[in-house]
Amino acid sequence: MSPPRRLRVAILAGGRSSEHEISLASARSVVAGLDPERYEIVEVAIGRDGRWALEAGPDRSGHVLVPGTGTGPAETLPVPAEGGTLEALGVVDVVLPILHGPFGEDGTVQGLLELADVPYVGAGVAASALAMDKDLFKKVMRDSGIPVAAHHAIRLGDAVENPFGYPVFVKPARLGSSVGITKVHAEEELGPAVELAFRHDEKVLVEEFVSGTEVEVGVLGNRVPPPVASLPGQIDTLEHEWYDYASKYDEGGMDLVVPPPDLSQETIELLQRRAVESFVASECEGLARVDFFVRESNGEVVLNELNTMPGFTATSVWARLFEASGLGYAEALQRLIELALERHERRSKLVY
Ligand SMILES: Nc1ncnc2c1ncn2[C@@H]1O[C@H](COP(=O)(O)OP(=O)(O)O)[C@@H](O)[C@H]1O
Ligand SMILES: [Mg+2]
Repeated sequence: MSPPRRLRVAILAGGRSSEHEISLASARSVVAGLDPERYEIVEVAIGRDGRWALEAGPDRSGHVLVPGTGTGPAETLPVPAEGGTLEALGVVDVVLPILHGPFGEDGTVQGLLELADVPYVGAGVAASALAMDKDLFKKVMRDSGIPVAAHHAIRLGDAVENPFGYPVFVKPARLGSSVGITKVHAEEELGPAVELAFRHDEKVLVEEFVSGTEVEVGVLGNRVPPPVASLPGQIDTLEHEWYDYASKYDEGGMDLVVPPPDLSQETIELLQRRAVESFVASECEGLARVDFFVRESNGEVVLNELNTMPGFTATSVWARLFEASGLGYAEALQRLIELALERHERRSKLVY
């Protein structure tokens, strides 16, 4: 018996985002985590300028990533390639958009992949865009009865106002990795903080400061069967005042403790339930990392944000949370690919 054909997997990495390097690191881990006997890997690096480095086809036409033997529509998708031309993304069985932040985690690439009718890992267009927008996301969560921090959105042309007193958090609506975020301690710092956030987005959030423990939960699955939550992990930012860029990415900048040592079993289960509820309420699929605060004053569980493509190296929080819950990185990757194929198959039966 001949071995089954390997699945052709395209990994998209890099992209037009301040999280470009983090995406490349995540992609390297993914490549290392995929079994070469089962998967044929095609890496597509997207430059900071948004251009896709496509491999030329064997005929050197430059129009395909790889020669197509798949069943889906082929060579239909124009993407901005190196040299400034438009080239077509060739046939692959499944795409892993391992991209963080704008132009990758926000529904834009997902829209492109929908148009190409190719299965892809992770949240779809609407869920990606919703989770990326910290203002819209909170509104949907409140409507679903999930507690979030109070916030006020400032759009271009609006007066700069802080209805919450100090300290307060100021952040761009749609970014990540703590870029452009300030903890504002006094009124005179508000203007500069809003200005900084406006350098990254046209919408800025002023957010009530939630004093408490930061806890993160991984989620894996589609809607049916129900998605599963990992054990929660507590973020200890060590000498950093809050979970800023340095705490996230400097060696020894943070500690992850799984499960959180000081939380009751009841709170742990509530966190897991809320993580799944928020995943379902925002219509996510595939994976997410859902980040919470547990308020110091009263133990209230407050949802901070949901990341549809969290840091995804084998030692990132998402992977460590599932590892501690009994699901290894390679297995999780395999499951994500199955979920992508299952969704595509399911949706291909819809009548439009
Ligand atoms: N309302 C808040 N209260 C307390 N800390 C906050 C608040 N908002 C953000 N932070 C701190 O800033 C970090 C980054 O904010 P977050 O909204 O998660 O943005 P990002 O998408 O960049 O991760 C959080 O992990 C937390 O440490
Ligand atoms: Mg965050």
